[in-house]
Amino acid sequence: MASCWSLLPLFFFFFFFFSLCFHEREAVAVQGGQFGKGSIEFAGVELREHSTFTEIVTAAPLRSGDSGATFFFPSSLPSGFFALGSHAQAHTSNSSPPRALIARDTCASLASPTDFTLLFSTNSSAFFWQPIPPPGYAAAGHLVTSSPQKPPLSSIRCLRSDLLESCDSEAPIWSAKSDSSFTVHLSDSFGTIVAGKKPPLICINKSLLTVAAMPNLTQITALIKTYSPWINFHPKEPYLPSSVSWFFNNGALLYTNSSPNSPARIDPPAGTNDGAYWLDLPTDPASQNTVKAGNLPSADAYIHIKPTLGGTATDIVFWLFYPFNGPARAKVEFFDIALGRIGEHVGDWEHVTQRFSNFDGEMKQMYFSEHSSGKWVDPKELEYTPDGGRRPAAYATLHGHAFYPKAGLVLLGEMENDGIGIMDETAEGGAVMDAAANSVVVSAEYLGVEEPAWLQYMREWGPKVSYDVDKELEKVMRFLPGEMKRAVGDLVSRLPKEVLGEEGPTGPKEKASWNGDES
Ligand SMILES: *[C@@H]1O[C@H](CO)[C@@H](O)[C@H](O)[C@H]1NC(C)=O
Ligand SMILES: *[C@@H]1O[C@H](CO)[C@@H](O)[C@H](O)[C@H]1NC(C)=O
Ligand SMILES: *[C@@H]1O[C@H](CO)[C@@H](O)[C@H](O)[C@H]1NC(C)=O
Repeated sequence: MASCWSLLPLFFFFFFFFSLCFHEREAVAVQGGQFGKGSIEFAGVELREHSTFTEIVTAAPLRSGDSGATFFFPSSLPSGFFALGSHAQAHTSNSSPPRALIARDTCASLASPTDFTLLFSTNSSAFFWQPIPPPGYAAAGHLVTSSPQKPPLSSIRCLRSDLLESCDSEAPIWSAKSDSSFTVHLSDSFGTIVAGKKPPLICINKSLLTVAAMPNLTQITALIKTYSPWINFHPKEPYLPSSVSWFFNNGALLYTNSSPNSPARIDPPAGTNDGAYWLDLPTDPASQNTVKAGNLPSADAYIHIKPTLGGTATDIVFWLFYPFNGPARAKVEFFDIALGRIGEHVGDWEHVTQRFSNFDGEMKQMYFSEHSSGKWVDPKELEYTPDGGRRPAAYATLHGHAFYPKAGLVLLGEMENDGIGIMDETAEGGAVMDAAANSVVVSAEYLGVEEPAWLQYMREWGPKVSYDVDKELEKVMRFLPGEMKRAVGDLVSRLPKEVLGEEGPTGPKEKASWNGDES
């Protein structure tokens, strides 16, 4: 079969054709996007999500404890559509349902490979093939077959290379027993595999897709109304959120390192996190307590909207600001132990993220930030109100404000279920914040949303801790029996600095997840 590119004399014809396509894409963007229509068209390709697969071969786990993987190929494709590579699922309990993108050529953007090279084969007879694209094209995935014969050239399509860009590989989902440097990775955006020795992952060129497929402000408003979380605070929570302006207007102070003894009321300056400025509570104790308690009626969830998975999905991030993060509490078997001031800090930013597919407009996953990391949760694992609505609950832990999808107790730093850890405790029955009624979109670069000035404040939202962790620990431990003393000492020594609150916290824009993916 002739590839598109072998028709070089028609180059100028193609060039003309491509400009036409380009105009078509511009027109779509003006109409407000193709969000939730089932397919995404951009730069001469129509993409769809596909969920019907044929099982090709299963590869055994590398070592006991590792997971094996099953390799799939898209089947029953709609007419005109082609696969872009094989799909794979690791044999772990929490793998999501198989899904891969398929593509239809609308404007000279797809081409069959000109050949396949065998990359690797296993004894369990899985054969890994790299497609060789024609010039000007690139493969979005590799192929796995169960026979040593080359796959037919027509089995997949390559994309015009400017539609793709390389991106960082995710952790491998499988590696080979005989050569563990050969690894297989799954592309989040395409749902295809790439295999080899440290192969770069291929993603969709973000600059082409973003505008075409993202929701516009009308659609964002609808998504927030339908899916935004109910945020549940602990019934005993003394440190609630507030709006940023409430914090600024109620006496929070701006310190500068050139004159650290003369703080100013806040009009925070923009700039980088260079230690030149930080925020703190007001100095008189009464106002300090007022500010620490926060002010729920003023609080808004600050929303950041960004493209993800190469622009095939949208992340809606809800940021909450708390003037104060309370001290940590430890559990040692049956005892709850207040850890003095350990873990306390001024200025606490926490978030949950809802991820929507731009193909069908549905929420696919929700992320709960827990201290400096967090976890993605499938919609079926979320807790909804009994009225059948689609708005999930998010629970904030007492004092620390980490987010969890369900109420309960989690012990941080616990070793081998010994019942000793820092308490992340959430419960029902406390104050509830309606994130649909109390939220404001503060950033959506692709929509040109104007950002509030405080978002440009890149320095610390609280001072470095003013207490000595060892001294605080001594105070707490004085009253503990010897065995418990050792247990608490060991626990605190293995906690990350972040949980102990030793660094002043930075604002949302300084977090790695603002531009990148959730960790
Ligand atoms: C968003 O897109 C929808 C559907 O194309 C359209 O009806 C609506 O007017 C658009 N809204 C804005 C603010 O562009
Ligand atoms: C399969 O395994 C056997 C025994 O371990 C080995 O001798 C043989 O070379 C392997 N074959 C392939 C294709 O890896
Ligand atoms: C992605 O698309 C943009 C806009 O057309 C283009 O300038 C850029 O070169 C493309 N990236 C790659 C890696 O081809």
